[in-house]
Amino acid sequence: MKATGWVPLALALAGCGSGHDAASDQIADGKRVFQRCTACHTIGQYATDTDGPNLYGVMNAPIGERRTRFSYTAGLKALGGNWDAERVDRWLANPRRMVPGTTMAFAGLPNPQDRADVIAYLSTQGP
Ligand code: HEC
Repeated sequence: MKATGWVPLALALAGCGSGHDAASDQIADGKRVFQRCTACHTIGQYATDTDGPNLYGVMNAPIGERRTRFSYTAGLKALGGNWDAERVDRWLANPRRMVPGTTMAFAGLPNPQDRADVIAYLSTQGP
C-alpha cells in the first residue's frame, strides 16, 4: 500500500482537539525534571561532555561507551549491555546503589513518576 500522509495529520488534529496530548505532557514534564541533571549533563546533539557525559541518544545505547572521550568508571562499564528504560529507571532511582563508586554524585530521583517522565524526555533526544 502507498503511504498516504493523512494518518499522522489526523492524529495531530486529534491531539489538538483534546487540548493536551498525554505523551507530549509527559515529555514536557520530563524536560522540567531534566533541569536537575543539567548541572552535569548536556543533551544537545553537538554539545560537549561536562562533569557528566553528554546524553544525546543515550536511550538504548551501550552503557558507558557512547562518549569515547569521557572517563566512565570501571563499575559503570562493567554493567554491560544497553540503557533500556528499566535500567535507566534503576540508575536514576539511586546511582550509587546500582554502581558503587560511580562518579555520578547525584542522590537519585525517589519519585517513580519523575523517573518515567525524564526517561520519556530522554527518549525524544536522539537520532
Ligand atoms: C553531579 C553531577 C551529575 C548529575 C546531577 C547527574 N549526573 Fe548523570 N552522570 C554523571 C557522571 C559523572 C556520570 C558517569 C558515571 C560513571 O562513569 O560512573 C553520569 C552518567 C549518567 C548516565 C550514563 C551515561 C552513559 O553514557 O552510559 C546517564 C543515563 C545519566 N548520567 C543520566 C542522568 C540524569 C537523567 C540525571 C538527572 C536526573 C543525571 N544523570 C544527573 C554526573 C551527574
